[in-house]
Amino acid sequence: MKKTRIPVIAGNWKMNKVRDEALQFIYSVNQELPSPNKVETVICASDVLLRCMVKRQGENLKIGAQNMHFKEFGAFTGETSPKLLETTGVSYVIIGHSERRQMFGETDESVNKKIHAALKYELKPIVCVGETLELREKGLTNVWVKTQVEKAFENISLDDVKQIIIAYEPIWAIGTGKTATPEQAEQTISLIRDVVKELYNEEVADQVRILYGGSVTPNNIDDLLKQSNIDGALVGGASLEAASFLKLVDSAVKNS
Ligand code: 13P
Repeated sequence: MKKTRIPVIAGNWKMNKVRDEALQFIYSVNQELPSPNKVETVICASDVLLRCMVKRQGENLKIGAQNMHFKEFGAFTGETSPKLLETTGVSYVIIGHSERRQMFGETDESVNKKIHAALKYELKPIVCVGETLELREKGLTNVWVKTQVEKAFENISLDDVKQIIIAYEPIWAIGTGKTATPEQAEQTISLIRDVVKELYNEEVADQVRILYGGSVTPNNIDDLLKQSNIDGALVGGASLEAASFLKLVDSAVKNS
C-alpha cells in the first residue's frame, strides 16, 4: 500500500562527533540525498556543531538540536533557548528523549512546555515517547505511551499539531541491539495514531508522522518501514556513518 505521508529519517548523534567528523559526514551525504518531497532527512547534533552544519547542510539535509530549554532567556546555566536555536538556523529539535527523561529530569510537563516553545520559534519538534522493559512486561505499554502522548499534546492547537513528529522509542530497544519487532512497533505506533485521532480528528491523525527508534540499522529498517503506520526512523548508532545513513534513507524511499 502506498503511503501518503512523506517519510522521515532522523539521525540522533547524541554526544558523538567533533566538528571535522560532522563536516566530513555532510560532504559525503550531500550529493547523495534524495529530494525532500521523497524523504525528509535530518541530523540532530550537539549544539556546538549546529551553526557550522546548517551552513553546509545542502538542499536535502536538515539539521536539528537534541534538546532545548522552554524559556527564551534567563538564569539557566548550561541551557540553550529556542531563541538561540533559531539563530543557528536549525529546523528540528528532539524533545523528551528517554535519555533526557531518565538522566536529566525531563518530565511530561517540561516536554509539553518545550513543544509549545519550539512551535513558537518554528522549530519542528520530534517528540519521543516509549516504555521501559519493566512496563512492557507488566502489560502497561499502551497506557504509559497513551499518557505520554496526551500530556505532551496538552493545549497544542489543531494547526500546530501537524508540525510535530512523534518518535516511538521503546527504552529497552535503545542502544541494545534488541529492536522491537515490526509487529510490536506497528502496534504501539497505531495506538499513538489513535490517541492523536481522539485528541484531534482523523484527518490530523492521518497526517502526523510517527517514527520508530531503537536499534534501527540498514538490516532491519525495511521490515519496520513496510508497516503501514511507521513513517520513518529516529536512529542513533546507525546514523553515525554516512554509508549507513544513506542506506536508511534509501529504504525510506523504497518503502514509501
Ligand atoms: P540507537 O539507534 O543507537 O538504538 O538509538 C536510538 C535513539 O535513541 C535515537 O534517538
